Amino acid sequence: MLQAKSIFKSYGPLPILKGVDIEVAKGEIVSIVGASGAGKSTLLHILGTLDLADKGELYINGTNISALNAKKLSAFRNEHIGFVFQFHHLLPEFTALENVCIPAFIKGVGRKDAEVRAMEILDLLGVAHRASHKPTQMSGGEQQRVSVARALINNPFIILADEPSGNLDSENATALHQLFFDLRDKFEQTFVIVTHNEELARISDRTIHMRDGIVIV
Ligand SMILES: Nc1ncnc2c1ncn2[C@@H]1O[C@H](COP(=O)(O)OP(=O)(O)O)[C@@H](O)[C@H]1O
Ligand SMILES: [Mg+2]
Repeated sequence: MLQAKSIFKSYGPLPILKGVDIEVAKGEIVSIVGASGAGKSTLLHILGTLDLADKGELYINGTNISALNAKKLSAFRNEHIGFVFQFHHLLPEFTALENVCIPAFIKGVGRKDAEVRAMEILDLLGVAHRASHKPTQMSGGEQQRVSVARALINNPFIILADEPSGNLDSENATALHQLFFDLRDKFEQTFVIVTHNEELARISDRTIHMRDGIVIV
């Protein structure tokens, strides 16, 4: 589903990623762990096409990312990659339902169809009763579920998560992790998750350890 080869990235003169290779199969849940500053978020941004590598190749479900122009790339990202961040990044002025619909609207799906699909996902994730609530009216665990719903709405090839449970108490963290595994079991959803959560790293299919911009074994 995802293949990155020999990824290099520097910020100014400072090398951050020094040749990272990573492959993720469909339906796999891979966690990335490592000390703060190791380059995990930088790598995740590049895998998510939010940032460009200086050197290296990235294929997502067979598409060569570097062959896409800026417009095609943003459409590809919106349709095929879901993101979940440590802080939910939901838009405060919009309800849960509206937030979940936004990637579908950007794709060109009509309002009615988008809302039906968004409600299905909110229901699946156990937060349908929050559909008309704004982010500040929801708990941290609910906000993260709504972010996962937003990540799912366009049926992405892969979901990339950067410390998704980093801001949750242990009970909500465990429930969120369980949700990822449920989505994998039901829909063969693929995940790459940067995490400091040892329990999540332990139960993942595979854990990638990073140190100083490289993958260590
Ligand atoms: N936009 C940026 N400009 C300059 N340096 C950056 C930028 N983003 C990250 N860095 C640096 O790159 C290194 C790796 O950061 P990051 O990928 O966020 O690590 P991690 O997620 O593993 O904690 C850090 O030293 C950080 O300061
Ligand atoms: Mg980080």
